[in-house]
Amino acid sequence: MEILLGDINDFPLHQSVVFNNKLGEFVVYRMENRVFMFENMCSHEKYPLQDGIIQEDSESIICIHHGAQFDLNTGSVQSLPATRPIKVLKTLIRNGKLYAIDK
Ligand code: FES
Repeated sequence: MEILLGDINDFPLHQSVVFNNKLGEFVVYRMENRVFMFENMCSHEKYPLQDGIIQEDSESIICIHHGAQFDLNTGSVQSLPATRPIKVLKTLIRNGKLYAIDK
């Protein structure tokens, strides 16, 4: 199922934008050719991830609260103290619109 998030230009490059939809609260992070979307909650102690440090080279995020690191493509844990993945959604850009894909 595709969920329309809005015009791609509503999502500035290299900035985290918090976005609510029927699936919950997510963060959208746009790079030149990719858009990541992940749940705005760290799996460690459930703090928001919206201020996390995005590592564009490794396509990962570091939670600022205790330093857990997650893969933005899969949500998998790359560094403790988190042990469980975060939820990520695939995205699609079509005709200038951004969509989240929920299976
Ligand atoms: S809440 Fe994110 S590492 Fe602890």
